[in-house]
Amino acid sequence: MSRTPPPTEAEAGALLDHARRVAGQAYAPYSRFRVGAVAVVGEGVYEGVNVENAAFASTICAEANALTTAATAGVRRVPVIAVGCLDADECTPCGNCRQIMREFSVEWIVFQGQGGRVRLSRLDDLLPESFGPASLPG
Ligand code: THU
Repeated sequence: MSRTPPPTEAEAGALLDHARRVAGQAYAPYSRFRVGAVAVVGEGVYEGVNVENAAFASTICAEANALTTAATAGVRRVPVIAVGCLDADECTPCGNCRQIMREFSVEWIVFQGQGGRVRLSRLDDLLPESFGPASLPG
């Protein structure tokens, strides 16, 4: 059940532009696939980029980076996140990032869809029947 109204079309477009600008700071020497993410909490925004590693599995995705930056600032709930990329038309959040979004009760995801178009989805639709904090006993 959503408690946050979805971003308007104009807001979603501006957030995707913001995420794409942030992607310019990505450290992606291996994939050359630069991703940026913006976690939106009221008036606050927390940015993240993908940070790759020569040990490939140690790579950090842009969304994870934005959300852990928000968490470091004390944020525990992120209603909206935007994800954009510079080196492809399309970038949809990976499964691991969807799960990290779940932890922070993300409701709305703005991302870059086919042809670079602005897409807006609910996390519930991208990660149905998810495992979350309430799934643990106690
Ligand atoms: N990447 C992200 O930053 N977010 C995603 O949701 C998918 C993938 C990054 C990881 C890696 O640096 C590059 O994109 C290619 O997979």
